Amino acid sequence: MAIESSCDDTGVCILTENRQILSNILSSQIDIHNKFGGVVPEIASRQHLEHINPLIDEAMKEADIQFSDLDAVAATRGPGLIGALLIGVAAAKAIAFTNGIPFIGVNHLRGHIYANYLAFPDLKPPFTVLLCSGGHTQLINVSEKNDFTLLGNTLDDAAGEAFDKGARILNLGYPGGPLIQKAAEGGNAEAVQFPRALREKNNYNFSFSGLKTSLLYYIKKNENYDLKDVAASYQEAIIEVLVDKSFKAARKTGTRKVIIAGGVAANQRLREKAIEKAKKWRYEVFFPPIQFCTDNAAMIASAAWQRFINDDFDSLDTPAKPSLTVSSE
Ligand code: KG4
Ligand code: ZN
Repeated sequence: MAIESSCDDTGVCILTENRQILSNILSSQIDIHNKFGGVVPEIASRQHLEHINPLIDEAMKEADIQFSDLDAVAATRGPGLIGALLIGVAAAKAIAFTNGIPFIGVNHLRGHIYANYLAFPDLKPPFTVLLCSGGHTQLINVSEKNDFTLLGNTLDDAAGEAFDKGARILNLGYPGGPLIQKAAEGGNAEAVQFPRALREKNNYNFSFSGLKTSLLYYIKKNENYDLKDVAASYQEAIIEVLVDKSFKAARKTGTRKVIIAGGVAANQRLREKAIEKAKKWRYEVFFPPIQFCTDNAAMIASAAWQRFINDDFDSLDTPAKPSLTVSSE
């Protein structure tokens, strides 16, 4: 069993020894937080607490199993909101303790990456990862020995945050990624020349805060703007930099394999552009199935499975850690 509760989604997944998903339940809090214009940590914790036990029951019922059938239990232990993480971690530890089974504290960022293994079980490092979500935008090298090294990071906003803030400026709602993608359909991506930051050679960091400001100025100056064109141009400015830097990072590390992960990996334009580039450069590119891009418990189960087969367990005094990084485990 794996539990996800790092932010505003509560998820429970039951995975078999052969990595088959028996059940994968998700309860989103988007409608509740929407009223406040963003995730309110205290409300998120209370919602997780309310939902966690019914979701565990539902996942086991759907999988047709009992607690005594479980071999191990995992929960996201970081990064994320401390109050939110604690609910999943406490529930998992209680199940581990009462059933005498091992506990695995999963790194949420690695979970996003492991979502790819649900579709590509034979995938093997070394590879270069673009992890782009609402909270993170990072380039990571994963070595043959499965060591994770950070190659680049965002200096300000994450790519998902750039979508979310852009959508707010355009009055589209939340979460912004899917809404901008939809608004951009049929638009001209070259209509507005939005800035691309940090384009120097060998710079694998990202910056999206200037882009958001330039969108704000553009719509102030052009009251009768064409939403399709503006959304397509804004989306293109984010996606172009993500794809370009990912492949350059893969070339630098010599991996020739690019793995894309995180909520923004659901973006169609990102998929198109990355596939196009991979063809041109004769690299391989991998994406998780769309439903496993944004936060879910199946990706946590996938990361936990890898640790389970290596007997790599955590003691019950391993704490939730909001500041966990991708290279710290
Ligand atoms: O991975 P995730 O669920 O949460 C974090 O761990 O941060 O990612 C959520 C982010 C949001 O910012 C959302 O706008 C973005 O992923 N997102 C997308 C798309 N679907 C979700 N961004 C671009 N295009 C999409 N289709
Ligand atoms: Zn996430």
